[in-house]
Formats: sequence, structure tokens, C-alpha cells
Amino acid sequence: MTNDKSLPQQIRALLKERNAILLAHNYQRPEIQDVADLTGDSLELSIKAARTEADVIVFSGVRFMAETASVVSPDKTVLIPRLDAGCPMADMITREMLTARLAELGEMPVVTYVNSSASVKAHSTICCTSANAVAVVNSLAEEEIFMTPDRNLCQYAASKSTKRIHCWDGYCPIHDQLSAQEVLNVRAAHPDALFMAHPECRPEVLALADAALSTSGMLDFAKSSDNESFIVGTEEGLIYPLQKANPNKSFYRVSQFMVCEDMKRTTLDDVLRAITTMTYEVKVSENVRINAARAVERMLKL
Ligand code: 13P
Ligand code: SF4
Repeated sequence: MTNDKSLPQQIRALLKERNAILLAHNYQRPEIQDVADLTGDSLELSIKAARTEADVIVFSGVRFMAETASVVSPDKTVLIPRLDAGCPMADMITREMLTARLAELGEMPVVTYVNSSASVKAHSTICCTSANAVAVVNSLAEEEIFMTPDRNLCQYAASKSTKRIHCWDGYCPIHDQLSAQEVLNVRAAHPDALFMAHPECRPEVLALADAALSTSGMLDFAKSSDNESFIVGTEEGLIYPLQKANPNKSFYRVSQFMVCEDMKRTTLDDVLRAITTMTYEVKVSENVRINAARAVERMLKL
């Protein structure tokens, strides 16, 4: 049987039928961002979704994001359209690796970036985002801290704090590969543009930034700035919402290699299939959920 509705129309109709909402991370394909109920960064999406009356959350993003949604919305069904959409950085540490490292270092508070698995969050003192890492670190009474999984975010926080911070050696392959020379080259081509960099970039890249910001931070910064052009130091998917919200401003890629394959895996067909078949459900064990929620809530209280 043929369906004369477009893919976005079919998706919207099914979402309504199932009392479901579609969340799309800022890096997702433009056509998915356009059909979504909410777009944003991962934590912001999970928190906003938890406040809705929806029974089902379809998370177009990567696995740790859907896990976080499930942690904060235990009564909702959380679906991820592609099981193979992971995050290489989140996969660079497991609960066992964290426990082993703490046994070597001695007990200390663990600050875990939200780009991590629920089981690592569950073994952490508190979570942080790329936007609040410095405030989270400084909120702890202890002077010695362990931070995971991103060594670049960790070094960035350490540079803004007097605490002794031990970093796990994880990194985002997309942000970590960006070199200072590439930034200088794009700067030379666009001398009036402000350079916005994600804290997952290396320290020498962040040293060149006019502002170190999360993806939502970049959206706010570009909107409120009087400047008319910007160099975007993060995954290229963010250019779409930046340009959409600021049609009269110019946004330049910092490098043609800032593409996260995992973030680009999900297509509109996958979203339609997910909501039609109600797969793939993401759920963590209740023990992990309670402990991960504690670390997230401790951060939210700040
Ligand atoms: P944000 O939380 O800043 O959106 O970042 C998500 C991400 O995957 C960065 O690589
Ligand atoms: Fe993970 Fe980096 Fe992709 Fe973000 S951009 S999902 S941190 S690999």
C-alpha cells in the first residue's frame, strides 16, 4: 500500500498517535532537526522531555543521550532509532576501568561529563556538562578530584581552578583532531569572525578561542553577539541551527573533518521505523538508574 504523506508527515502523525515526542541533538541531520519537537544539547533535551506529558521519547542522537533520557524519565519509554549510534569518547571508559583507576589513585570525588555511559555516571559523585564543568569542580569541598572521560574538558576545567584534577585519558576523536594551525588558517581567511570552540577541543585550540562554549552556548552566543560572522569550532551539524536562527550572520567551518559519523547515522527512515515498531528501547537497570540520577541531580542542584 502506498502512503501519499511525506516522511515528516508520517512521523508527525505517528508521534501524535503514540503520545510521543522526538528529540534531536544539535548535530543531527537538518531534516531530522526540522521534524523534531525539541532540539538542543543532550542534557537540556532530557530535562525538557522529562517535564512533558509524553509517554514515549524518541531520541535522535547517540546512545548515552538516550540513556540519560531514560535515567531522568523512568516512567517513559525511550527509543533510539539506531542502535549503532554510539559515542567513541563515552566508550573510552567503563565502570570497571574507573574503579581500577580509583584503586590506584585513592578515593576522591569523581566528576563525570554527561557524554558517558549510565554505569559510569552511577559510579560518580557528580556529573557536569561542557558548560558547567568549572562550576561543578569548584563546588566540591575536596581539593583533589578525578574527572572523566574527556581529558580536554578536564584540562580546561583544571586551567580555571586551583584544585588538583586527575584526568582520564579519553577524548572526542572529532574535536581532538582539530589543530591550532587549522584555526589560524581559517582566521586568516575571515579576520572579523569570532572563533567559538567546544571545550572538547585541545588546550592549544581553546587558547585561540574568543569563547569556549557547549553547542547550546554557541547558539546563545551567536544570537546575542553584535558580531556578524563566526568560526564554528565543533561538529559541523551545528551550522544548520546557527544559520537557521541567524539568517543574516555568517558561519564558517573550522575544518572539513569535524563530522561525527555516529551523529549522522540516523535518517528520517530510521525515525519512522523506530516509532512504527517501537524499537529500540533504551533502559538501564534500576540500580544504575538510581545512582546515575543522583549524580545528575546533584549537578542540577548547583
Ligand atoms: P553538547 O552537550 O555541547 O551539545 O555536546 C555534545 C557532544 O556530543 C559534543 O561532542
Ligand atoms: Fe561523541 Fe564526539 Fe560524536 Fe559528540 S562529537 S557524540 S563527543 S564522538
